[in-house]
Amino acid sequence: MTHIPGATAGDLQGKPTSASRTTLSHIMTANDTNLLGTVHGGVIMKLVDDAAGAVAGRHSGGAAVTASMDEMAFLAPVRVGDLVHVKAQCNWTGRSSMEIGVRVLAERWNESTPATQVGSAYLVFTAVDAEGKPRTVPPVVPETDQDKRRYQEAQIRRTHRLARRRAIMALREERAAQGFDED
Ligand SMILES: CC(C)(COP(=O)(O)OP(=O)(O)OC[C@H]1O[C@@H](n2cnc3c(N)ncnc32)[C@H](O)[C@@H]1OP(=O)(O)O)[C@@H](O)C(=O)NCCC(=O)NCCS
Repeated sequence: MTHIPGATAGDLQGKPTSASRTTLSHIMTANDTNLLGTVHGGVIMKLVDDAAGAVAGRHSGGAAVTASMDEMAFLAPVRVGDLVHVKAQCNWTGRSSMEIGVRVLAERWNESTPATQVGSAYLVFTAVDAEGKPRTVPPVVPETDQDKRRYQEAQIRRTHRLARRRAIMALREERAAQGFDED
């Protein structure tokens, strides 16, 4: 059974998921399009990073930087005139890092049709001090069953990220020991 965090870690009180959950909304204009006339993926990624950054800052109570962005999925094209909602929450916390989960929804700006999901992403933010060094974050306290599932899934992604990093580092060291000279 996976451990769900308690209320404290060291001196830091836990913070519930809802305390930092954030939605950023934006209407897409002609300035946001790619050469095909739909919205550029990079525009959506910027909004995702902005919303996740707000959550990381709110959860950690200070500065936090993007350490990685993974599993960015674009599920459907976003069009000019779409009102895009970027919903972000802190899924998981480590010592100084936080996984922020993001869902991107779009609806026509002037119609009352329901919004549909057009993207999702997971980002890792690291809380930093004034010198840019990692600092401890409060443990996130998942509240709902969905928050608890997201916490458990984030732990799986964390385990895989670390294992992949270790395996790649080991391969590089092995190749360096064999005399391969690569940048
Ligand atoms: C992120 C950063 C602060 C990490 O610093 P570091 O000296 O490598 O620190 P550590 O190795 O101790 O890692 C600190 C935490 O970040 C996590 N982390 C670091 N790099 C990571 C990566 N690429 N992916 C996921 N997590 C990462 C670590 O797992 C660790 O988590 P934990 O404390 O919860 O266990 C540093 O690499 C940095 O400043 N990067 C640039 C960030 C930035 O400028 N982003 C905007 C891009 S324009």
